[in-house]
Amino acid sequence: MKWNTFVAALGLFAPTSALLRFGCARLTVQRLDPLVNPGMIPSTHLHQIIGGNSFNVSMDPKTHDLPTLSTCTSCQFTEDFSNYWTAVLFFRARNGSFKRVPQRAQSGMEGTQGGMVVYYMSDALFDTAQKSKVTAFKPGFRMLVGEVNYRNREQARDFRQLTYTCMENEGTRAPESLDFPKKPCPVGIMANHRFPTCWDGVNLDSPNHRDHVAYPETGTFESGGNCPSTHPVKIPQLLLETVWDTKAFNNKADWPEDGSQPFVWSSGDKTGYSTHADYVFGWKDDSLQRAMDGHTYVSAPMLKTQSIAQQNKCTVPDMVKENIDDWLPKLPGDVVVV
Ligand SMILES: *[C@@H]1O[C@H](CO)[C@@H](O)[C@H](O)[C@H]1NC(C)=O
Ligand SMILES: *[C@@H]1O[C@H](CO)[C@@H](O)[C@H](O)[C@H]1NC(C)=O
Repeated sequence: MKWNTFVAALGLFAPTSALLRFGCARLTVQRLDPLVNPGMIPSTHLHQIIGGNSFNVSMDPKTHDLPTLSTCTSCQFTEDFSNYWTAVLFFRARNGSFKRVPQRAQSGMEGTQGGMVVYYMSDALFDTAQKSKVTAFKPGFRMLVGEVNYRNREQARDFRQLTYTCMENEGTRAPESLDFPKKPCPVGIMANHRFPTCWDGVNLDSPNHRDHVAYPETGTFESGGNCPSTHPVKIPQLLLETVWDTKAFNNKADWPEDGSQPFVWSSGDKTGYSTHADYVFGWKDDSLQRAMDGHTYVSAPMLKTQSIAQQNKCTVPDMVKENIDDWLPKLPGDVVVV
């Protein structure tokens, strides 16, 4: 069953029966990246970040215990103090000025300020049984998917399933493209970040933050491919969905005269192929493993939840203090579009 058919069958996200799906409000939007640029303030490009409020300029895995240091999370499940982040989408006007594109809450999560929807799955999204055994991430685990310097389709193929969906309506989940949609998307552009699902079972991180995880040997996570012998441990499929609310920028008269699309990542990419996302695990105790072992679907009675109003209240101070919201002559950090 295709995801859009599946959404229709469910009555668009009606909670049913161990797939976790939950909303997280924005924790902060600023130029920090404790994974790739630890200690750098500001980091190279702007990120939008969700999760626990222990997020900081540096998060040394040896000393920074997210569940202990956080006092709140912007996610619905209150035991999840992880941090998740992606680049930020900007609109580039004909005069060359940039405007940050807002993020929108998905259906059923109205009122959530910014943020993303997070999934942890033991089997493909459409498989309501979710019966495969997966090993939850361990404290100190982090990973990155995508490559900020990529600019073409051949490169982008290194990462399976980093995609965009041009949303015609709230329920649109297909087709997905590897580059930015070429036409205006009435409801917005959904960026989908699916992380690899096989782990070497030893390293919590690696120098490029990618080599300790891998894709299945054949096929995809969705098709049930086995993990390679180098990375034998099946971990949950982590998926982040961000809806970029492009509605204010859909007038073709404001688009480039050569007919190309006007959106760029904060990292300076106008193709979309550099899409990337970062994850720093921070679930409290064994809460994630317990949830993944629960074989429930969307709802997770074993986990504690909070209201959207409480999620919205969890933020971190602006440590960089730069203007990101006006029409800007340059991208934050003077990042050049190439
Ligand atoms: C970030 O780290 C600095 C230096 O260790 C610390 O003073 C500050 O309280 C931290 N901020 C947050 C939000 O935890
Ligand atoms: C550039 O264009 C945008 C969109 O039309 C407009 O809002 C902005 O004021 C313009 N900036 C300059 C410097 O002309």
